[in-house]
Amino acid sequence: MATSKLWGGRFNRGTDVAVEAFTASEHFDRRLATYDIAGSRAHALMLAAQGVITRDDCQAILQGLDSIEQEIAEDRFEWQASLEDVHMNIEARLTALVGEPGKRLHTARSRNDQVATDLRLFTRDAIDQIHSDIADLRRALLDVAEREAETIMPGMTHMQSAQPVTCGHHLLAWCAMLDRDAQRLRDCRRRVNVSPLGSAALAGTGFPIDREHSARALGFDSVGANSLDGVSDRDFVIEFCSATALLSVHLSRMAEELVLWSSQSFGYVDLGDGFCTGSSIMPQKKNPDVAELIRGKSGRAVGHLVALLMLMKGQPLAYNRDNQEDKEPLFDSVDNAHACLQVLTGMVAQMTFDRSRMREAAARGHSTATDLADYLVKKGMAFRDAHEAVGSAVRLAESKGVELAMLSLTELRAVSELIEEDALEVLTLEGSVSSRDHRGGTSPRQVRLAIQEARSAIAAQAKGGKE
Ligand code: ARG
Repeated sequence: MATSKLWGGRFNRGTDVAVEAFTASEHFDRRLATYDIAGSRAHALMLAAQGVITRDDCQAILQGLDSIEQEIAEDRFEWQASLEDVHMNIEARLTALVGEPGKRLHTARSRNDQVATDLRLFTRDAIDQIHSDIADLRRALLDVAEREAETIMPGMTHMQSAQPVTCGHHLLAWCAMLDRDAQRLRDCRRRVNVSPLGSAALAGTGFPIDREHSARALGFDSVGANSLDGVSDRDFVIEFCSATALLSVHLSRMAEELVLWSSQSFGYVDLGDGFCTGSSIMPQKKNPDVAELIRGKSGRAVGHLVALLMLMKGQPLAYNRDNQEDKEPLFDSVDNAHACLQVLTGMVAQMTFDRSRMREAAARGHSTATDLADYLVKKGMAFRDAHEAVGSAVRLAESKGVELAMLSLTELRAVSELIEEDALEVLTLEGSVSSRDHRGGTSPRQVRLAIQEARSAIAAQAKGGKE
């Protein structure tokens, strides 16, 4: 053999030094090592059960893999870029440790179905991790929502004060986004959890393999239906990164609101000293850098999704080396989603709201004008006329430099004779929010009901129940 490569048989000369560095992936795909070892164990056991390798060979392979796993865990494993990737590093070490049986492990297998298997196992774990991180954030938000079920704040459209809402209701809207993120991950998991093992290089294998055997051992729900698709498909990575990209977009929206709310102009929330940083020049500053970073990192998540879509665009069947480029975006998407969720959960648990500032803000901008219009409608006026009438009341309030809710009954009756004493209650912030007392509404009662519902849904999802 003219080269030391595991695939060196047909080569006369060694690999160009630059090419060796260019093609190597062991510096990042070593992260798949535990999955690679699990896949090899399942494959060896299947080969032995099918009589393709002997029980003794299988035993030697399993013992060798155990030692390698330990070496890696204890950081004693010597990774070699010249061995290209995680698969060949482990296989070479196995052969060094156990000899001949190590060389039999790759029977009826290719790195193509091997890497697809590793990646699916990795993604499955990543989904479970992010799913549980999302549940933690949702639980933290629900605790705050419960505390702030009656806290009134301005609800905004076009970033203008629109109608008063309860802070608990606003936080429940964040929870609703996260609930969909969790569902998307669960759904994606079903398509991740399909075994490509046995696809071999692309066409399957002539050995009498039992694909169900290895699939079961690895906890897969089923085996893939087509070997060409088995080695080339990366939809599951794209789907996962699409779910994390959308999750990151949601987190960026929450982070943006926290940035706004913690500014002096709003003054709604204190993010806690542990979750803010200072300025190197301005001694007075307490900056929401954590929220800003969460907002910023969403760009990366979306970028990774686009990179993966472009990676697969136009790729002919079956496996192409392009696919090696799938790992870094995937790993980074997992790491960022995990880090953002963890730090945001911590921040949410620490933050404290300034209830009176929020209430004052909600009282500005004639925010209960719709309530007065609705009042007139209930007294028999057509909605368009009511809209017009209240519009003129707002004009009157503006001309006097006061809020609509501060006009006297006499002033209001000048706008419509239908307005009576009870309209004054309708114009209050509390009256406004408590009147929206239907499913999905902002009243404190509905907020408390929604919190209970969300808590039981999270508990059911954690048990793997229906979403
Ligand atoms: N490192 C490769 C990857 O990540 C493993 C598969 C290599 N297969 C091949 N035929 N060169 O995709």
